[in-house]
Amino acid sequence: MFDYKWALKELETIQTLEQLEEVFQKYLGKQWSLTLAFKEMASLSPEEKKEAGKTLSEAKTLLNEAYEAKLQELSIYQINESLNKDLVDFSLEKSPYNIWHRSLLAEVRREAEEVCKSMWFIIEYGTDVVTKFENFESVNIPLSHPATEMQDTIYLKETDPRGEPLILRTQTSSMQNFMIKKYGVPLKAVVPGKVYRYENMDATHDTMFYQLEGIVVDKWVTIAHAKHMIEKLLSAILKKDVETRMRPWYFPFVEPWFEIDARYEITDPKTGKKTMSKWMELLGAGMIHPKVLEMAGVDPKEYSGFAFGMGLSRLAAVRYGIKDIRYFTNGDLRFAQSF
Ligand code: DAH
Repeated sequence: MFDYKWALKELETIQTLEQLEEVFQKYLGKQWSLTLAFKEMASLSPEEKKEAGKTLSEAKTLLNEAYEAKLQELSIYQINESLNKDLVDFSLEKSPYNIWHRSLLAEVRREAEEVCKSMWFIIEYGTDVVTKFENFESVNIPLSHPATEMQDTIYLKETDPRGEPLILRTQTSSMQNFMIKKYGVPLKAVVPGKVYRYENMDATHDTMFYQLEGIVVDKWVTIAHAKHMIEKLLSAILKKDVETRMRPWYFPFVEPWFEIDARYEITDPKTGKKTMSKWMELLGAGMIHPKVLEMAGVDPKEYSGFAFGMGLSRLAAVRYGIKDIRYFTNGDLRFAQSF
């Protein structure tokens, strides 16, 4: 007769779900022991049959219960096992490589864009490669003008339809003409982006730097609008009260023209004492020259406007008290990792 006690013992020793399945097939499956034992009963006397039937039914119930209990136990164990394997080990050592740091330049540019957006300026980036017409002539700098010499740049082999070589833009003012033609007037737009120049490098000059050009054209725009809006923009971007001053200067594409300087202070982080305080030129601005408007198809008798060009690298330097704008781009990890 079928010995179910033995089967129960075997069930107890089982460690895995696979083993459990084997034992199930062996004792409880259709072809196996218990089923066969029921079949064997056919040859027994009615008395014996009754007895054996009772024992076998009990055995079946007990075995099924034991099987279910084991199944549950092993399943929970298996789930916990795989959860343990998937756990993230928070005790792991930190990577010795610093994979990110803040980019002060990008941060200032993004914030400047947000400020401009909130003042309803359109934002365009334009391209680094431009024609000589865009970079110089469209902003009233004839190619023979000495200003082209002052803003020498990299010339490409490729040429424009006139046969003039394409260049890397020296100023984001090169987008003025394009923007007026694209959006028409009235217009309020800014162009943040990189510019390139043949430059004697020092703490405030680099051969590649970031500018933000702004242009506002409408009827009755005056120099008072320009002054007010530029001051608002500057204090929003610099996030602190910065002392500014206006000076006359000369730019061929505006008339009259002026430059705005900001007081630039460096404080020693250890002692808290000011180690430097001087004026830094932050932007050029002025009322758009009638010729620039005309070249973009706008009647200067009907419309006027102002334009400004800020050095974003310098703005970042003033805001964070950085000694030398070349730190922003020279890849010195000691600088990068300190933010
Ligand atoms: N484009 C000039 C430069 O790079 C900056 C500038 C001056 C832009 C006066 C202007 C402006 O829009 O009105 O030096």
